[in-house]
Amino acid sequence: MFPEIRLRRLRKGKIRDLVRETTLSVDDLVMPIFVNENIDSPVEISSMPGIYNFPLSEVAKEAKEIADLGIPAVILFGVPAFKDAEGSTSCGENDVVQEAVRRIKAELGNRLVVITDICMCEFTSHGHCGIVDFETQEVLNDPTLEVLGKIAVSHARAGADMVAPSGMMDGMVGAIRMALDAGGFENIPIMSYAAKYHSCFYGPFREAAESGYSFGDRSTYQMDPANSDEALREVALDVAEGADILMVKPGLPYLDIVSAAYNVSGEYSMIKAAAASGWIDEKKAIYESLISIRRAGADFIITYFAKDAARMLK
Ligand code: PBG
Repeated sequence: MFPEIRLRRLRKGKIRDLVRETTLSVDDLVMPIFVNENIDSPVEISSMPGIYNFPLSEVAKEAKEIADLGIPAVILFGVPAFKDAEGSTSCGENDVVQEAVRRIKAELGNRLVVITDICMCEFTSHGHCGIVDFETQEVLNDPTLEVLGKIAVSHARAGADMVAPSGMMDGMVGAIRMALDAGGFENIPIMSYAAKYHSCFYGPFREAAESGYSFGDRSTYQMDPANSDEALREVALDVAEGADILMVKPGLPYLDIVSAAYNVSGEYSMIKAAAASGWIDEKKAIYESLISIRRAGADFIITYFAKDAARMLK
């Protein structure tokens, strides 16, 4: 008890550094990249200052900038020129993500881990993450699995190092594992968005990826924010289906659930907006956010702050 015990003794100078329990390193960061077939020069996303949609012609340059900052990995999201109800531009050899992967790999080879998001919402005209029955307005689980398998194989063929299914379909990890193995890609790991909540914090992403939906919402497949037992069931199933990495999303509001975390678009926008108004110190807010995710136990963090953080950590 006080006065014998004074915790402030360990909070001074280098002693403070010595007893730090958690670290944040550039090796813990994954930077998202949006690549868009409809543009010829980078376009800033208005709700995410500092984050851009890149045309295919500039994607390798952006990836190089990220790699030069020492960031080990990127996750790619594609916006196609053409969308239909079946999301048919998601899995062709020359579609936007596949082409982006090839360009990045040609430029950087093994200097950068290229992860691809596997979902249909950026490619469907209705914006849902799967095949839709228009009569019942239902997103159909099993027919969607087949498409997800095709997308994964097409990304692996283009040279992706890892695939990351984000659509919250039941059985998606198993279906993708089977498709990859059948295609000769048994060494490509799957990072599952294992516990992905139905969150308002994805709002800015939907502007970035042009993936808003035309009816209903995603609550029939993404998890209820009130649930945590269910997250453990999701995770157990994904492990059983062969997931190599389990990710939780969003990050900050869900730290009790975490394994690897996605610090999502809305979390980015909130800090940027508050900093732009002069209400908080941006650099400190970035550090506190990322270290809190590490402290909660995340091995790594997918974050739009990856470049900012890499510069700060230098
Ligand atoms: C695709 C997908 C989304 C995000 C990642 N993959 C959007 C969604 O589910 O609506 C969101 C990421 C972010 O907000 O930064 N299904």
